[in-house]
Order: sequence, then C-alpha cells, then structure tokens
Amino acid sequence: MQDGDPFPGKFITLEGGDGSGKSTQARMLGDYLTGQSIKNLLTREPGGAPGADEIRELILTGEPDRWDAVAETLLFYASRRNHLRLTVWPALKKGYWVLSDRFADSTMAYQGYGNQLGEDVVRKVHDFAVGDFEPDLTFIFDMPAEEGLRRTDDRLHNEDRFEKMDIAFHERLRDGFLDIAEKNKDRCVVIDATKPIDTIQAELRRVIRERLLA
Ligand code: TYD
Repeated sequence: MQDGDPFPGKFITLEGGDGSGKSTQARMLGDYLTGQSIKNLLTREPGGAPGADEIRELILTGEPDRWDAVAETLLFYASRRNHLRLTVWPALKKGYWVLSDRFADSTMAYQGYGNQLGEDVVRKVHDFAVGDFEPDLTFIFDMPAEEGLRRTDDRLHNEDRFEKMDIAFHERLRDGFLDIAEKNKDRCVVIDATKPIDTIQAELRRVIRERLLA
C-alpha cells in the first residue's frame, strides 16, 4: 500500500455519469488552485500513468462483450494501482493537490451497480488493490438518467464501449452514485450537473474553501 500517509497534498476526485461535465470542471478547478498558489496535478482514470494508459485502451475499445464485468473490474483496478503508485501517491507526497477525473467510485457505480456485479465483489477487489487510502473530497456529478443518455448519444466518440448503455443502465448508475454519496457523507458532495458551468464551478470552489482550505 502507500507509504507515508497522511500525505501533505490533498486528493480530490470528480465522479459521475458520462457527459456530466466533470472534465471541464476539473480543468477550471486546477486553474483556481494555481491561482491560490497551490501546486496541483490534473489526472484521470482509467489511465494517468504508464501501463494504466495501455489498460485504458484495452478496456475502452472493441466489442461490448470483449470483457465481462469481473475481468473489467480487475482491469480497472490494475490500471488504478499503477495510477496510484506511479502518479497519485508520489504527487501527494510532494505536496501537490491531485484532481482526478474519476476514481474508485466509478468502478463501484459502473461495474458494481450498472453491470450488477454487486457491492461486495467490488469492495473486495478495492480492499486488495487500494487498501484504506481514499480521497479527501469527492464531487459526485448528478443528473437524470435521460439526460445522461442524451448527452452520450450526442457525443461524437460514442464508439466507446461504455457509451452504448441503455436507460436502465443509466438509472442504476445514477442510483449507485447517489448511494455511494449517502454512505460516504464525510467525503462526498453531490453536485447538480444540470446547472450552468459557472454556477457549478462556484459551488465546487466554495466546498473546497470550506472543507479543505478553512
Ligand atoms: P472516458 O472516455 O474517460 O469517459 P468520461 O469522459 O465520461 O470519463 O471513459 C471512461 C469510461 O469508463 C466511462 O464510460 C466510465 C467507465 N469507467 C468504468 O466503467 N469503471 C471505472 O472504474 C472507470 C474509472 C471508468
């Protein structure tokens, strides 16, 4: 597992369905932190490290039945382990704030709830691969399932294996994220992803000021 915990840096994750605007918000948050003279690193999952990016390719491309939910979960966690070991933990150790576009809650929501692998299975893999380490703060971008479906349909790159999901999947996904937020109130804040970009960004900054900078 990681050594030297607690780290001087903070680990913030952005979670939610596809097309929920997390990536834009993560970039804007990076600018905000830089403006506050806080060293920060923007990263994403799956990927964000050597090896992890190769696994990203494996997971996201190809036929929908290329991997089953178990194999997929193991691949996400192999990728996550490299991301932590080679990117996140070293940066936190140096005092950087790390902003990650997706992290472990995505596996719980997509594979555990969406693909119905179940919470227990995902948690076991998580405990083995990650241990006790967790984000200091997690934003869960929430929007209605129909909106998630519409936004992914509009996307140009919807050859992505994960964007071929139906409305029932999006409903399970949304419920999953909300359930995770409810069970982890100390670190999770639910954000209404249907609001305008600037309104959302102001809300994120307010939460960061209150929870991490106060
Ligand atoms: P990506 O193109 O990065 O989508 P986004 O911009 O919405 O983050 O593809 C990541 C896809 O992989 C996305 O559909 C969510 C899915 N995913 C999982 O199913 N489980 C996971 O653990 C992670 C990290 C992502």
